[in-house]
Amino acid sequence: MRQAIAAANWKMNGCAEDVAAFAAALSAVSTTAEKVFAPPAAYLSVAQQANSGFALAAQTGSEHLAGAFTGEIAMPMLTDVGCQYVIVGHSERRALFGESDAVIFAKVQAALASGLTPILCIGETDAENRAGQAEQVLAAQLAPVVKGLGSTEKQRLVIAYEPVWAIGSGRTPLLEDIQSIHEKIRYLFGQNDDTISPSVRILYGGSVKPDNAAAIFALPDVDGGLVGGASLTIESFKKIIKAL
Ligand code: PGA
Repeated sequence: MRQAIAAANWKMNGCAEDVAAFAAALSAVSTTAEKVFAPPAAYLSVAQQANSGFALAAQTGSEHLAGAFTGEIAMPMLTDVGCQYVIVGHSERRALFGESDAVIFAKVQAALASGLTPILCIGETDAENRAGQAEQVLAAQLAPVVKGLGSTEKQRLVIAYEPVWAIGSGRTPLLEDIQSIHEKIRYLFGQNDDTISPSVRILYGGSVKPDNAAAIFALPDVDGGLVGGASLTIESFKKIIKAL
């Protein structure tokens, strides 16, 4: 059985007061799913102080474990302030901060070495989708972890399929396309070891809203969601959690 995940990615939004209020309200939501909250890094400790029932996540972390990297936050520091998860390879990190597949793989390794569970984001752009290249792009984004991690490490990963064109756009792929891509990702990620595919949790992200969550989460290979905009209020995120 794969436990479903409802993950809130606040990106660079909110203030200390908002984070504390959301964390307290999220703690009180009862569900069989795992609740995950990724506030801005500046407020990780604020969220943790109000946490009595969710997993704390960072939105990114450095591939270096320590040293002269001004402004960066090391994965062991994230563990230290209470994080269990770290989002790695979000499309905004790839596109706006130039993170390559090699850097993202180094971040996955640093996260694993620090006791964190990486939520590895992969997804094709609109142009790649239109050109029929989605599967090829996803396979290339997965290749470093497929080749570079052993079975035990793979078992610790969560994958999030987030088509770049669906993020923040209000557009989502057809349900049948989400299902077939998740099935493909499950196969690709586990191709060297058949214990991996049945157990890896694959989240869908990109314009998940209260009114489309139930249909997306009902798909057999979708194990929950990574939610941006619709996670910014507890009312809306609670409806998404309840759809799981
Ligand atoms: P969105 O963002 O829900 O606002 O589309 C999802 C994400 O970027 O993780």
